[in-house]
Amino acid sequence: MQSNEPTSGPDRPHTRPNTVQPARQDGLLRLRLRLVNTVLKYVRRVSPRLERKIHRRKWEHLWHVESKRPHGALATTVPEELVEAVETGWFPQGCRVLDIGSGRGQISAWLTERGFSVVGGDLAEEAAQLARREFGEIPGRLEFRRLDILHDAPEPGSFDALLDRGCLHTIPTEFRRTYARNVAAWCRPGGRLLLLHRQEGEASVLIDSVRDLLGSDFELERHARTRQDLERSAGPLPRQTAPGMAFWFVRR
Ligand SMILES: C[S@@+](CC[C@H](N)C(=O)[O-])C[C@H]1O[C@@H](n2cnc3c(N)ncnc32)[C@H](O)[C@@H]1O
Repeated sequence: MQSNEPTSGPDRPHTRPNTVQPARQDGLLRLRLRLVNTVLKYVRRVSPRLERKIHRRKWEHLWHVESKRPHGALATTVPEELVEAVETGWFPQGCRVLDIGSGRGQISAWLTERGFSVVGGDLAEEAAQLARREFGEIPGRLEFRRLDILHDAPEPGSFDALLDRGCLHTIPTEFRRTYARNVAAWCRPGGRLLLLHRQEGEASVLIDSVRDLLGSDFELERHARTRQDLERSAGPLPRQTAPGMAFWFVRR
């Protein structure tokens, strides 16, 4: 039987869908990311300043594009380790807290509601703006500011307690010592640091590296698995989660 359908020209029916298979698309994206990572590794070696700029731009971009912002539980919840720290008085009642990499600001706002004076500091101005829009600011009790923990001059000993959920583990390896030095400078002697860090490999490797990083200025009181997964930012690849580890430090 003969078909009346044209075999060429604009009216020719599509025999193949015009889309790339999702698995292939994923493969291509992974390849592209691997290439970008290789270039970044090279850049890191050549110019730490440029690397810091890339880190800042990356976060500014992630906060600027709605679909790429940190999302899900990570962006809307308060970690249960913090709830416990507040309820047990490990974070002394009403003290001054720095929320490092405060993101949307929900943790800072939660602490303020419980009587703490909080500064939520984030590298991305967009994040600080979002937080201000959502939670407002209360002079002396709740402030959101753009703050680069790797760069901005510390106000020595100005905080009694610091919280980091999800910031340190995003910081490029070569700047982690700077992070440790600055965090120690912002914290008063005897002050507390609650750190929630993503765990990608062996728990013992992470524990050793965090202890090595912060151990000269802080005493590690304890550590434990967090029950909440620390989710990655949304992105083009399927969402991934990674378990986390919580660390309770006291400033020497
Ligand atoms: C995974 S998000 C976590 C946000 C928030 N802590 C939470 O748990 O909802 C990490 C945050 O750290 C911020 N950040 C990354 N590098 C930073 C730096 N050098 N100084 C301050 N904030 C930084 C990012 O902009 C981002 O908002």
